[in-house]
Amino acid sequence: MFAPEPHARIKALAASPIRRLSDHGLARGGVLPFWFGESDLPTADFIRDVAAAALKDGQTFYAPNMGIPPLRAAIAEYVRDLHGVDVGPERIAVTNSGVTGVMLAMQATVDPGDKIVIVTPSWPNLFEIPRILSGNVGYFPLEVEDGAWKLDEDKLIATLTPDVRLLLINSPSNPTGWQITPQQQRRLMEHCRKHGIWILADEVYERLTFDLSVRAAPSFLQAADPEDRLIVINSFSKPWSMTGWRLGWLVLPRALAAHMPKLIEYNFSSSPQFTQAAGIAALERGEEVVAAARARLIANRDVMREGLGRIDSIEATTPSGGMYVFFRVHGETDSLALAMRLVDEVGLGLAPGIAFSPAGEGWLRWCIAAEPAKLADGLDRLRRFTRAGNARP
Ligand SMILES: Cc1ncc(COP(=O)(O)O)c(C=O)c1O
Repeated sequence: MFAPEPHARIKALAASPIRRLSDHGLARGGVLPFWFGESDLPTADFIRDVAAAALKDGQTFYAPNMGIPPLRAAIAEYVRDLHGVDVGPERIAVTNSGVTGVMLAMQATVDPGDKIVIVTPSWPNLFEIPRILSGNVGYFPLEVEDGAWKLDEDKLIATLTPDVRLLLINSPSNPTGWQITPQQQRRLMEHCRKHGIWILADEVYERLTFDLSVRAAPSFLQAADPEDRLIVINSFSKPWSMTGWRLGWLVLPRALAAHMPKLIEYNFSSSPQFTQAAGIAALERGEEVVAAARARLIANRDVMREGLGRIDSIEATTPSGGMYVFFRVHGETDSLALAMRLVDEVGLGLAPGIAFSPAGEGWLRWCIAAEPAKLADGLDRLRRFTRAGNARP
């Protein structure tokens, strides 16, 4: 008998510590959950209505691999309008979620053993997915300076030697809220272009920048030529509160886009017609939804900054965008143990920083896309926890 086990590399994948914590919390009950990265608001009615009408209309068949033409055209128009970059629908691939977009991008670029550099702390999927493909992942840590996460781009560039295959950057970042500057994007693009290094830019939080003088965080598309080795990942999940719909897109160089239908065919073949119809509505009529999400996040960030600032033992960093506040409790170095104690002792559900690579250890991530009253309750619970002397001195 051969044991029915997967490959060693699949067994070695890290199970999500966030899921471990949430499973524990959900089994226990009475926990205020801020552990997942999603808004507590359902998708806007007008978007749901379009999907319902598409279903009623019988749009229940396979769609083209790269997405329905009107959605690809709407995405190209949206990118042009938002970033002033003409990408053309032929460079757009509609994906069955942002996370699937990450997998497709890696399948298209990563061979076993290829070196991959990822800026961390980072959403865990970005460094576990390349491991499914036997990529060789190296972490590049951001650093905390004056209460915010910073990138030392000289150091990063020194790490990007010609044997590196791919650089992975998520900005605005989950979990730190760090945001890359246009100048850093240009420098990295020039360096990677010179050495043939792919850049995989995860820009799913681009609309959730806290800088209200712009409509979106800077995109790598603005720093690139159309045939650069750049893949941009995006998703409907965060700006339009559509996490459960599983819909996203990639912007690809033409040479790669030509081969993407094959990868999509053999992964999931196509995204559902009715979710794609809803995607068009979000892009074309959803600006008010995005504006409201941003305003709410900015107000919540201020509430959290004030609330966490009043707890002595806490060091919080200020996010420039995204949906999270990343902070630590003095003296606490084991984030999973701390997150478990917060669940057990005061019913507060936060994501442990260790989930986001070793650079996140000691930190906690709080998703702030929630009702202010819930945040206030959570802050009270945290205050009670620290007052009770649970936090080590
Ligand atoms: C940085 C980042 N990229 C991509 C995604 C994927 O989003 P989805 O698969 O819901 O489109 C997420 C979700 O949390 C994320 O945080």
